[in-house]
Amino acid sequence: MSGSNLLVIFTGSIAAYKGCEVVSRLVQRGHRVRCVATPSALKFIGPATLEGLTGSPVLSDAFAPGSALEHIALTRWADAVLVCPATANTLNRFAAGLGDDLVGALFLAHDRAKPWLVAPAMNPAMWSHPATGAAVERLRGWGVRFINPASGRTACGETGEGRLAEPETIVGAVETALASPAKRRRVLVTAGGTAEPVDGVRVLTNTSTGATGALIATHLSRAGHDVVLLRAQNAIAADGPCREETFVTFAQLEAGLRRLLAAGPFDAVIHAAAVSDYRVDTVVLADGTALATSGKMASGEAPVLKLRANPRLVDQLRGWSRTPFTLVAFKLTHGAETGQAADAVKKLFAHSGADYVVHNDLAARHADGSFPADILQSDGSVAAHCTNRSALADELTRLVGEPTNRKSRIENPQSSHALDP
Ligand SMILES: Cc1cc2nc3c(=O)[nH]c(=O)nc-3n(C[C@H](O)[C@H](O)[C@H](O)COP(=O)(O)O)c2cc1C
Repeated sequence: MSGSNLLVIFTGSIAAYKGCEVVSRLVQRGHRVRCVATPSALKFIGPATLEGLTGSPVLSDAFAPGSALEHIALTRWADAVLVCPATANTLNRFAAGLGDDLVGALFLAHDRAKPWLVAPAMNPAMWSHPATGAAVERLRGWGVRFINPASGRTACGETGEGRLAEPETIVGAVETALASPAKRRRVLVTAGGTAEPVDGVRVLTNTSTGATGALIATHLSRAGHDVVLLRAQNAIAADGPCREETFVTFAQLEAGLRRLLAAGPFDAVIHAAAVSDYRVDTVVLADGTALATSGKMASGEAPVLKLRANPRLVDQLRGWSRTPFTLVAFKLTHGAETGQAADAVKKLFAHSGADYVVHNDLAARHADGSFPADILQSDGSVAAHCTNRSALADELTRLVGEPTNRKSRIENPQSSHALDP
């Protein structure tokens, strides 16, 4: 992967010193790096630092003598562009399509077939501001890849999401973005648990954190695949350059899956979400009346919940896509004997038409929540035995990258109901 031409753009964040570390690492890995810095960025670091690290002068002013048309030349020269750190101001300016400075002109003039990566760094309130959120969504829609900021204590002393990702994460994301497009797959990952409303404020849900799906999405996206993570609103986010959408209820997850698969095409779907088996049909109060779903049950009420089975989503996924894809389903058992587990997995293969089933058993989970898991094929053979989540994410990344004979929609799926994850 060494030896690419990289343009690194610095903007006016206190994290600019970490951007210098990123540039240093990229140079050490054999890349040719040129830097552009906004006037604000040059208040945090000096041009001599960047010139010393890269061996090339830093550009900042589109109209500086000798710099005319440099924005065109630089974008043609670069195999990839990295904005690191990226301020809220610059993200909003990109999203508005402003070209009245060198950085804005570079963004507008760049060849959109080449990767444009952004590593935001800002105060948590700036990152969670709707203006920034809307800009990020817009830029993602235009193919800009985000190296998500981390959570923790930011330089301004506040804690939350907004801290620049670690240099090794950023370098990894740049290098995976440079990976051969021929090997890049489009993958949809679901994660986290659905929540079914009981009344206007209460839900029936499960204990899924979405950690497994998030880690799979992280590994896939860092490996250069184009990943959409459809996760529960309260689930763990991915830490890689992937697009995220959220759901709360079963109905929202179903609608999201239908929409994304219809818009596809996806090469693989990894359905790790913990989907509710049942939704609340009626809440019958002690006096025999039914509670309005938008109401709030009085505390101390002893209601009877009438549940209705949800249809099994994993069985319908192929039917919602116009193109075939590799399907990975999940089966969680609890204290199952080998034969019982094999039967449960076999049933899941039969009704879902999955290419792979990831099986793990609740009884084998460690105290820290990690667990061993097997990736099984429909003939019962083990494609990979994984000792923990990270190994599972790596193995799935490897399998998704392999050429496959993907299946299309299956005939006559059975409709028996079981917990997917
Ligand atoms: C000490 C200091 C630290 C700052 N850190 C950040 C930051 O981390 N992220 C950010 O979005 N803005 C930050 N700002 C605000 C930006 O520097 C300001 O919005 C500036 O106009 C950005 O310009 P640029 O995007 O053209 O570089 C900081 C400002 C100061 C004075």
